[in-house]
Amino acid sequence: MKVNIHNARFLLSGVKREHYPTTAMPEVAFVGRSNVGKSSLINKILNRKNFARVSATPGKTATINFYDIDEKLMLVDLPGYGYAAASKGERKSLSSVIGEYLTERKQLMQVILLVDSRHKPSQDDIKMLESIKSAGGMAVVIATKADKLSKKALEENLEMIIETLDLQDGDILFPFSTQSTDGVEIFWDYIYDYILYDEEEEGEDA
Ligand code: GTP
Ligand code: MG
Repeated sequence: MKVNIHNARFLLSGVKREHYPTTAMPEVAFVGRSNVGKSSLINKILNRKNFARVSATPGKTATINFYDIDEKLMLVDLPGYGYAAASKGERKSLSSVIGEYLTERKQLMQVILLVDSRHKPSQDDIKMLESIKSAGGMAVVIATKADKLSKKALEENLEMIIETLDLQDGDILFPFSTQSTDGVEIFWDYIYDYILYDEEEEGEDA
């Protein structure tokens, strides 16, 4: 396992560009519907409990939260979209918070889309992935809450997600669960291979 986290710390929360940190390290941001499991995933990959705030009520994360990992990588937890119970005004303001960060942040290396492994990706998910790709990013998709499905149902749903999002060879899709470390390893392998290019972490053939 390549995971070698020495020092993860919450840096700051903000809603507009003046609040963003002045750091230069590469940023990887998580987007997806409210309640899909963005904050839970951050806690899991950092092996922390309640580091990023999680709740049974959707709409928990209303700010952009920056987590500094070893002063090498910034993980960015974004508010979720599509929270039906939010007012029109609230939804509009959240989507401009997300949009401003995604379009203006120079340090942003990759946006990772989270979708619930139990459900067909929504129109919002499809649009989000298109905008990630048109901004020059790769398609990197994580199917969350994999523990809620049988192995067979998960395989079928991953196929359905591939079709719905029109994923191609070379795109990245993997399942994730807070109940297992499988996805944690795949996540960090992805980070070392595509974001940090960390030679030292390559093992015996480095
Ligand atoms: P917003 O901040 O509202 O955008 O939500 P979020 O995407 O950050 O989701 P959050 O991490 O707060 O998780 C929402 C709910 O799903 C919580 O009750 C979590 O405990 C639950 N959850 C998240 N990931 C998993 C998982 O892998 N398995 C299971 N069983 N539950 C999960
Ligand atoms: Mg959250």
